[in-house]
Amino acid sequence: MYGSGMAEIYELLHESRGKDYRAEAATVTELVRSWNPQAASLLDVACGTGAHLRHFAALFDKVEGLELSDAMLAMARAAVPAAVLHGGDMRDLSLGRSYDVITCMFGAIAYLKDTAELTATLRSFADHLAPGGVVAVDPWWFLETSLDRHVSADTVTVGSRTMTRVSHTERQGHISHMVVHYVVAEPGSGVEHFAEQHSLTLFTRAEYEEAFTRAGLRVTFVEKIQSGRGLFLADRAEGGRR
Ligand SMILES: C[S@@+](CC[C@H](N)C(=O)[O-])C[C@H]1O[C@@H](n2cnc3c(N)ncnc32)[C@H](O)[C@@H]1O
Repeated sequence: MYGSGMAEIYELLHESRGKDYRAEAATVTELVRSWNPQAASLLDVACGTGAHLRHFAALFDKVEGLELSDAMLAMARAAVPAAVLHGGDMRDLSLGRSYDVITCMFGAIAYLKDTAELTATLRSFADHLAPGGVVAVDPWWFLETSLDRHVSADTVTVGSRTMTRVSHTERQGHISHMVVHYVVAEPGSGVEHFAEQHSLTLFTRAEYEEAFTRAGLRVTFVEKIQSGRGLFLADRAEGGRR
């Protein structure tokens, strides 16, 4: 999952499909600053290639990232040299420091397998918050909003490289199984094909909200943003500034 072939084209593909990382980083920053105007440090959990971090770095004094995939982490290191980047699993988050903002973007939270993992991970986010700190989680689709048997296809050319991404998503209970095939072609290099499989948990909105609450966080859901998935914002239930 998220091997080197995928890491290299990940951002190009998503941006050419219309994902605006700069605008998303600006929106999240505006929202978290409406809760904590002095927020100066940020940790992006499951930061991928550093696509949001690149923009957060211009908006916060100090940014850090955490990422499981070595290939994605290598891309992030090259993209955001100013950031401290940690290789690691969000389920074992233990960085020994605290942050004004912790983000987890683009559905990465849905790689957690069940509500027990979700609650434990959110609790560790809470443990890494500085006083007045804010958590922002951009969830995957909810069980009630997810599509079943969905096909998505895009072909883009960036420079001399042409890339095609075709995915098929099928729901099985609370799990969304997504198979994604990539074809990458470049003059002189020929055509490469590879595929990845992802299993994403379709938590309900109520399951997310209950997990935040059990983790000691006071949560609000901002509807419609992030391509319609919405965004959870939370702070510690005791001592929050709201
Ligand atoms: C859909 S990508 C999102 C990446 C980035 N946040 C973005 O917005 O482009 C999901 C990312 O989550 C990472 N990931 C999945 N499970 C993880 C875990 N348990 N701990 C840390 N990162 C994880 C993957 O390696 C991948 O980079």
